[in-house]
Amino acid sequence: MPKLITKIDPVVAKKNAKRCKERGIILPTFHQQMFPDTIPETIKEKLKPIGLWDINPLNLFRINWKNDINTGLFGKPNYLEIPSELTGVKARIIGLAGKYFPTGTHKVGAAYACLVSRLVSGTFDPEIHKAVWPSTGSYCRGGAFDCALLACTAVAILPEEMSKERFDWLREIGAEIYVTPGCESNVKEIYDKCAELRKDPTFVILNHFDEFGNPLWHYHITGNAISEVFEAIKKPGDRLSGYVSATGSAGTIAAGDFLKNQYPSCKINATEALECPTLLMNGFGKHRIEGIGDKHIPWIHNVRNTDLVTAIRDEDCMRLLRLFNEPIGIKYLKQNGINPNLADKLDLLGISSICNLLSAIKMAKYYEFNEQDIIFTSFTDSSLMYHSRLQEQTAAKGEYSELQAALDREGVLNAQSYDNLLELSYKEKKRIHNLKYYTWVEQQGKSETELIQQWEPEYWIETFENNLSELDNAIEEFNNS
Ligand SMILES: Cc1ncc(COP(=O)(O)O)c(C=O)c1O
Repeated sequence: MPKLITKIDPVVAKKNAKRCKERGIILPTFHQQMFPDTIPETIKEKLKPIGLWDINPLNLFRINWKNDINTGLFGKPNYLEIPSELTGVKARIIGLAGKYFPTGTHKVGAAYACLVSRLVSGTFDPEIHKAVWPSTGSYCRGGAFDCALLACTAVAILPEEMSKERFDWLREIGAEIYVTPGCESNVKEIYDKCAELRKDPTFVILNHFDEFGNPLWHYHITGNAISEVFEAIKKPGDRLSGYVSATGSAGTIAAGDFLKNQYPSCKINATEALECPTLLMNGFGKHRIEGIGDKHIPWIHNVRNTDLVTAIRDEDCMRLLRLFNEPIGIKYLKQNGINPNLADKLDLLGISSICNLLSAIKMAKYYEFNEQDIIFTSFTDSSLMYHSRLQEQTAAKGEYSELQAALDREGVLNAQSYDNLLELSYKEKKRIHNLKYYTWVEQQGKSETELIQQWEPEYWIETFENNLSELDNAIEEFNNS
């Protein structure tokens, strides 16, 4: 079983604790991120006047799904239900809303988990080391933000074709940036850059594709948040029937492992871009769903637990991005049966969130889910990150119109079917699992023995269940030293 804390350097750990104390940095435990009501009142009081995105170490306590933007404190998990009127399916589809994390996406949590284990164990020394966040999506934003809060140096590696908003923000926050060739699915080029930087020991690579802090965070924090929402909204006889996650690093999908333990009939649906159908058919290609679909199977993906693979056209996501954000699109929805409150909240869905929604619709149609079936997913980030993409669409296709809105609703939402969907047999799961060999054993130096162990459910159960208390104890000790 991979351990989050593999070795301890007590001298550096002590120095790190002193450094944090001097800067007023207190590290939240995973337990506090799961249940923020357990955060001490003194911290909650100090948090009230601090903005959600402010570079203030106390914002580490806002790395959870429960930020109440009205009070500045914590409430129930933030979520949005997309009802049948819009989805056209009987099943309820609910997404946790990532917009209310600092930085506007949940990746800030995965990044925290990867860095904090090193800080408390003394294997990362902020006076010497730089934290390298290789990513095509929001992980490097999250990592750069966490570094700013923790007074560490951040290095972001991301492909040149990522959105302008991402680059601007990273520059503003003071991250060092390395730009690699290509787009969303050019992960190999990112790994090559990591290999180059690794030669210099001051660079500590925190690769979310193989760092177990990432799925551990989602297993506990995202998994618990979804379970809490389900328990609060379920009606008698309702089932938690599905969990959908578009996979980038395959961190978020680990919440599905938690949910399957709690609700054994829950089916886990991994989704990707049809233009880069790696899970579906070992495929490759370029696509526009930022943050997902990276032409390989992440080391941290518990493939044997995945029941279903769905591939979504990137053009469908871009069309809905316009429908959900262009004023004419929102007006059209309001005039055509969609509750105005809901229509005004559809900007909570960024491009990969729309992919998740479409995938949930496919899933509901395929399994013929009814009103008692609830599918959960995450709306990882909001459209805030993609305004330049909307402008590009206008430049390419012209101003949005009512006719286009009608076409998009009918031709994308209502037309979603269960094509490009594969319910995984035992052999299909093994095929996907085996793909890891080429990236991880042949190219990235992982052991074949561990790959074989990953096929066993115990490997994952122990990883997710056994690391938590060790890490939380180390965090508490660090804060108290
Ligand atoms: C916008 C967006 N959506 C989805 C994902 C996929 O999440 P995960 O990496 O946990 O699989 C990412 C990952 O960075 C992302 O940035």
